[in-house]
Amino acid sequence: MKLFIDTANINEIRELNDLGLIDGVTTNPSLILKSGRNIIEVIEEICSLVNGPVSAEVTATNYDDMIREASHLSKISANVCVKLPLTFDGLRVCKALTKNGYKTNLTLCFTVNQALLAAKAGATFVSPFVGRLDDISLNGMTVIREIRTIFDNYGFQTEILAASIRTVNHVKEAALNGADIVTAPSAILKELIRHPLTDKGLEIFLTDWEKTGQKIS
Ligand code: E4P
Repeated sequence: MKLFIDTANINEIRELNDLGLIDGVTTNPSLILKSGRNIIEVIEEICSLVNGPVSAEVTATNYDDMIREASHLSKISANVCVKLPLTFDGLRVCKALTKNGYKTNLTLCFTVNQALLAAKAGATFVSPFVGRLDDISLNGMTVIREIRTIFDNYGFQTEILAASIRTVNHVKEAALNGADIVTAPSAILKELIRHPLTDKGLEIFLTDWEKTGQKIS
């Protein structure tokens, strides 16, 4: 399973990318706002650091303007994956971009039927928002599992990109339920490494090692 980082913060991307953990990046207009950067500049910089797909989202909502924005974004780098809202026009743009060989990520997906339409439109990725579904007392993981079943039943190649990840448990559950990719904020990705028993065990080993008076050299 691939791990993407969900941020437009260059330092966060650099830190985990250097560790070799990052297979791609997802951004959205809220993350661009948080970065305080110009979208073209920040996406360009991210693409220069990361080898995998970098999702950059259009902000227009009608077909012609989305196509225009998609053309600007895709010119930044071959890594750019155009992120489109899961709307009627978003699906039309997805179909057109797919036909012309561009990568697409259909975002704001909340139902299995929306994911089915994204796959039929030829999307490279579809992003079901797990955390936002859980926020309204629905079950985001059920949606991931059902999309997996349907994509496998019909051989759809669209990859399931579990998004809106809020906990380390979400990462594990998404993997168990068949997501191809999880995109998560830097804090969650770093939290995957940690366990209190690892910290405690390391402390005991280091204390005992100190008592041996030895050095490895
Ligand atoms: C995914 O591509 C989105 O950028 C992101 O996962 C949304 O997460 P949020 O619900 O925490 O804003």
